[in-house]
Amino acid sequence: MTVDGKVTTKNYASVDFTSREDKAHLIRQRALGDAVLVGHGTIENDNVRLGIPREDLRRERIARGQPPYPIRVIVSNKGRINPKLKIFETDFAPIIIFSTTRMPLKTREQLQEKATLCLSHARCVDLRWMLQELRYDFKVKYVACEGGPALFRSLLEQGLVDQLNLTIAPFLFGGKNAPSLTGVSLDFLPRSIRCSLKEMRVVGDESFLTYRIGKKRGRGG
Ligand SMILES: NC(=O)c1ccc[n+]([C@@H]2O[C@H](COP(=O)([O-])OP(=O)(O)OC[C@H]3O[C@@H](n4cnc5c(N)ncnc54)[C@H](OP(=O)(O)O)[C@@H]3O)[C@@H](O)[C@H]2O)c1
Repeated sequence: MTVDGKVTTKNYASVDFTSREDKAHLIRQRALGDAVLVGHGTIENDNVRLGIPREDLRRERIARGQPPYPIRVIVSNKGRINPKLKIFETDFAPIIIFSTTRMPLKTREQLQEKATLCLSHARCVDLRWMLQELRYDFKVKYVACEGGPALFRSLLEQGLVDQLNLTIAPFLFGGKNAPSLTGVSLDFLPRSIRCSLKEMRVVGDESFLTYRIGKKRGRGG
């Protein structure tokens, strides 16, 4: 995020405001996961494949008993996911989509050739259920979530995050409609969430922070 806490601009453009070191850091974090998780907004805007471009990291995964690439997981309530996204052009790792039966039938037909669809009958995906499915049906223990802000906020609200890796990049964006780390909602979180700083590294003008997300305290705000 920027120094003023923004993760993108108000148009949700795919802006590039962090260094090569940050991009390498992201890939190293992704490479630890049994699964990499993103919200629909992020995959639609950033159109990424969610791979591990570095062979040494893939070798380290194999040495740890993991497959070379993490399972790729997308979450969407409405399910209107574009089957032409770049992620669907690649098959180096399974893709699992957690969504609901609101997903249009045509989209379902197009996506089920490329991904495993886990559709619930509720209006919204139950994220706790999603994590349980990943654990028991797909043997996933470690999920590396890459956002975006709406999904991160939902996970936080339900107490489903245990670590935050945060890079503060040397820019200020301003703009009340540009999402912060926890999105654009004007509401407080149900409770403020205590973070304890585990590690801090400074490279050039960027700070790389690792927080342990602790127990919830008091009222939001
Ligand atoms: N700076 C960074 O580190 C960073 C990281 C990630 C993303 N971003 C930026 O953030 C922007 C996207 O923001 P965003 O808030 O739209 O991203 P997002 O959280 O990836 O996507 C939001 C969408 O994900 C689905 N979703 C979210 N919470 C859900 C839940 N609890 N259950 C089921 N589905 C859920 C919904 O999809 P449906 O609408 O399909 O129901 C929702 O509209 C992009 O511009 C991207 O570049 C920045």
